[in-house]
Amino acid sequence: MSEFVTVAKVGAIPEGTGGTFQVGDRLVAVFNRDGQYYAIDDLCPHMGASLGAGCMDGEGIVTCPWHAWHFAVKDGTWCDNPRIKIDAFEVRVVGDEIQVKSTPMGKGE
Ligand code: FES
Repeated sequence: MSEFVTVAKVGAIPEGTGGTFQVGDRLVAVFNRDGQYYAIDDLCPHMGASLGAGCMDGEGIVTCPWHAWHFAVKDGTWCDNPRIKIDAFEVRVVGDEIQVKSTPMGKGE
């Protein structure tokens, strides 16, 4: 069943940065872009680096720390080949908690 999981308190992810968090049985990279939170699969599909450790630019594009593949944090689009996407997750803020939906967007309910 899909549910929202609290990953961090507001303020724990500074603007312009990201972090890696456990959501259910997977790791999700959560980014703060201008105060708005976005979540994508943490696992780079190339060789498995942690995208939460990557650098995000002002356009919301994160660069994989290992071999510099690029992904859009808003929907997981692989910018080097936009026909392909990695999973992206809905994020909400409830009170002072950042919560990520356990089921990726477009998969399940
Ligand atoms: S592991 Fe991400 S680009 Fe190679």
